[in-house]
Amino acid sequence: MYDPKQVKKNFPVLDQEVHPGKPLVYLDSAATSQKPKKVIEVMAHYYLNDNANVHRGVHVLSDRATDAWDRAKETVAQFVGAEKDELIFTRNTTEATNGIAYGWGDHNLGKGDVIVTTLMEHHANLVVWQELCKRTGANLEVVGLKDEATIDLEEFAKIVKKPDVKLVAFVHVSNSLGTVNPVKEMVSLVRKHAKEARIVLDAAQSVPHLPVDFHELDVDFLCFSGHKMLGPMGIGGLVVKKELLKSGEMQPWLFGGGMIGNVGEQQASYADDLTDLFTAGTPDVASAIGLAEACKFLDNLGMEDVMKHDFELVEYAFKQLSGIKGLEIVGPRPEKYNRLGSVAFVHDTVHAHDLAQILDSEGVAVRSGHHCTMPLHKACGWQATTRASFNVYSTKEDIDALVKAFDKVAKIFKL
Ligand code: ALA
Repeated sequence: MYDPKQVKKNFPVLDQEVHPGKPLVYLDSAATSQKPKKVIEVMAHYYLNDNANVHRGVHVLSDRATDAWDRAKETVAQFVGAEKDELIFTRNTTEATNGIAYGWGDHNLGKGDVIVTTLMEHHANLVVWQELCKRTGANLEVVGLKDEATIDLEEFAKIVKKPDVKLVAFVHVSNSLGTVNPVKEMVSLVRKHAKEARIVLDAAQSVPHLPVDFHELDVDFLCFSGHKMLGPMGIGGLVVKKELLKSGEMQPWLFGGGMIGNVGEQQASYADDLTDLFTAGTPDVASAIGLAEACKFLDNLGMEDVMKHDFELVEYAFKQLSGIKGLEIVGPRPEKYNRLGSVAFVHDTVHAHDLAQILDSEGVAVRSGHHCTMPLHKACGWQATTRASFNVYSTKEDIDALVKAFDKVAKIFKL
C-alpha cells in the first residue's frame, strides 16, 4: 500500500522549519520537485570517485564515466518507453521544444504551413512555435478550450483538417489547470486528418505523475524535465521517433566536439551513431546519473500507484478547499474529468500573490502568478492564480495545513 509518509522520509529537505515553529509544507512541486537523498548521493559519488569526460579518454575514470552515462541513458529512455538512441538529453523541456524547432522545424517547414497548438500550453510549448513561424513563414493556430478547462476537441478536429498542417504540439497534463488531455484521441485525429503532420507531446507535468510510454502514445516527439520528476536541475529529455533521426528529417541543432565524423578546415562530416550525433560538447554526466536514479526511485514506487496517490490528493484538495469562502478552484472537476498534479485557485477578495505570501508565513510553499501560461490566464480573465502542486511525497496532512493556513488569510483580510 502506497504510504506517502514513508516516501517523504527519503527527502531530507522536507524535514525543516521555514519560520519559527512553522514546518515546511512543500506544495510547489510542479515548479520543481524535491530530490530523494539517493539521487543526491549518486551524483556526489560520481564527482567524488569517477569524474572524467566521456568518450574521450582511454583511462579508467573516462571508462567509468562513459559507462555510467550510457547506463543512465538506457534507464531514462526505458522509463519513458523509448529506445536509448531515441533519447536526446537536454537541459529541460524548453530546450527540448527549441531542439525540435531548430533541428526539425527549420528544415521541414515553409511559408503557409500550419503549426497547431492549444490555449493551455505553457510558454515553452508556445513561444518557441511563434518564433519558428517568424523564421519559416508558417502560421500558428491555437485551439481553444471548453468550459475554460479542457481542449475543445471539435475545434481541434476542425483545425487539424486544414490543409498544410505540419506540426501539432500539445501538453499531456496542464501545469495550470491539472487537465489530463486525451492524448490517444488527439493523436488519432491528427493521424487521420493531417497525415504529414508530426506530433509534439509536452510531458513535463505527466512524466512525474503517470506512466508514460512514448511508443504506445504514438507521438513523434516527447519533451520532459528531470527536475520535475525527482531528478536534478539542468537535465531533461527530448525523445524523437527513430525513423526521423535515421532518415535525417530531424537534424542536430548543436554542433562541435563529440558529434563529428571527420573535420576539415572548411567542412565537417558528422557521427553515424545517433547518440553521438545529438550530443555536441561535454554532457552533464552527473545529472544524467541523478536522473536515472530518480527514474529507478519512481519505478520502485510504481507509476500506477504514484498516479492513484496523486489523484486522491487532487480529490481531497477539492473537497477540503471548497469549504473556504471566496475561493474558486480552476480547471475541471475531478469527479467529471481526469486531472492530476495540482490545484490552482482564485480568491474573490485576496490577490494571488498576497495569498501565497500569507501561506508562506505559515510554512506553506505554493506558487502564484501566471505559471508561464499567460494566454490561458488572459483568456480566462485571471490576473494571477495560486497553485498548490503535489508529488510522490505529498500527503493529505499537507493539504490540511494549506487549508488551516487560510485562517490567517481570513484574519488579516477580516473575511
Ligand atoms: N512549468 C513551470 C511551472 O508550472 C513553469 O511552475
